[in-house]
Formats: sequence, structure tokens, C-alpha cells
Amino acid sequence: MTNNILSTTKVEQFDRDGYVLVPDLFSPAEVAVMIRSVEGGSRVAEMTRGTADATGKKARLAIWHELGDDVWAAASTCPRVVNNVRIILREEIAFFHGKVMLKEAKSGGAWEWHQDYGYWYDQGYVFPRMLSVFVALDAATKENGCLNVLRGSHELGRLTHTIVGTQTGADPNRMPQLETMFERVAVTMSPGSALFFHCNLLHTSAPNLSDHHRRSFIMCYNALANPQLGDKKTSAQVPCPVGADDAILKFA
Ligand code: SIN
Ligand code: MN
Repeated sequence: MTNNILSTTKVEQFDRDGYVLVPDLFSPAEVAVMIRSVEGGSRVAEMTRGTADATGKKARLAIWHELGDDVWAAASTCPRVVNNVRIILREEIAFFHGKVMLKEAKSGGAWEWHQDYGYWYDQGYVFPRMLSVFVALDAATKENGCLNVLRGSHELGRLTHTIVGTQTGADPNRMPQLETMFERVAVTMSPGSALFFHCNLLHTSAPNLSDHHRRSFIMCYNALANPQLGDKKTSAQVPCPVGADDAILKFA
């Protein structure tokens, strides 16, 4: 990484694996501002909702589709993120949505195997030219339910998603066999690290049975030229603004 811009090697890694991990994309000071906003800010408190996983544990998250004017907007428009997403997708992008995943100690629920495009296709998005940037706010470990991915599974294309337990997940008849065909990677992350991942990458996570929170902030982007069919528009299809690199710290 030079100036936090992904190298050609890292972009090739994304193309091959369906993800690339960027350590320390955000500084400890920036993560501290985000954590403070999770714990005391209004947007997360107002937008949080939770659905129980198959064991009754809550997979709680706060989600929004407008950038707004706060630390989350500052992170979602910072050049380190927006320019790297443009580089990976190789085209201009639009902000799609942001969400804070509140996988809290002893209580955070599991996520079934799924592709994000398994959900987003049903929202009308035509092409899988979409991706997520998953930022660890706490250390993500095997014990507190870090993300697990199937390396290279984005090459499968979109799978059929059905109801799995209490969630929507990738076809449970196909998953056991697919799991044997790809390397399963537990993506352990230090706070401030970012995982850029393709919308067709299969991912899952276990419940958080540990004493440590595993909270994360996920920024999702769509190619500007990727239309959304139907009349239920979930995002403004405008070029994602690019803000200042130090904007997050202005909310300190
Ligand atoms: C998780 O937070 O473990 C799941 C996140 C996701 O599915 O995007
Ligand atoms: Mn997901």
C-alpha cells in the first residue's frame, strides 16, 4: 500500500479470492471516534433492529441508505475507501448503504452462509458490480465470531437464497458440498482493518459467545451504472462524494 491505495497485486488478489484484507486502514484514533458514535451517537441508536438467529440470539444491526453528516458519512466518503472501491470495480460508484453490526459479548447472533448479492438481487440490482468494505471496530477473533469466507466462491455467481432457520441464506442443500470445494478462511481482524469483499463471496459468522464485543461498520457500494429495477428505490444513484481524508477526526 502506498498512500492507502491498493497495489496491483492486491487488486489481483481481490479478483482471484473475492476479497482483500487491508490492515490498519483506519487509525486507532479514528476507530475510537467510531466506537464513541456506536455507544453514544444517535444514528446507531435510532436505526438499530435485531432478528433472532436459529438459536434465539439476536443479530442486531443499524442500517441506513443516506450518507448524512456524521462520522459514518465521513468514513464512507473518505478517499481511502471510495478510491479503492473505484479501483476494484474499475468504474465510478454510488454509495449504497452503511450498517453497524452489533455483535455484542455473550449475545451477538450468528449469520448463515450467504452472498450479499443474494439479498441485493431481490432488491432489483441488475449486475453484481457491488461490494462491501467491512471495518473491524473491535478485534474480530474466532472466539467472538469473526467473519468466515469461502475463498474464491464469488466465481460461483449468484446462488439461490431461501429461508434458512430465521434468516435468508444460500441454498442449504448445496452449501455442504460447496464448503468442501473452497478453502474456508476465518478472517481475524485488528481494529481499524478493512475487508473489501465481492457481493457474491459466500460468508458466514458464528454467534459471539465470548466476553468481548465484535462490532463492525460495513460500507456498501454499487457501480454508478448498475441500475436498480422496480419502484422501490433503496439508494440514490448518484456519484459517491469524496471527502477529506481527515474528516473522521473532525467528529472527535
Ligand atoms: C457479520 O457481521 O458477521 C455478518 C456481516 C455480513 O453478512 O455482511
Ligand atoms: Mn453479508
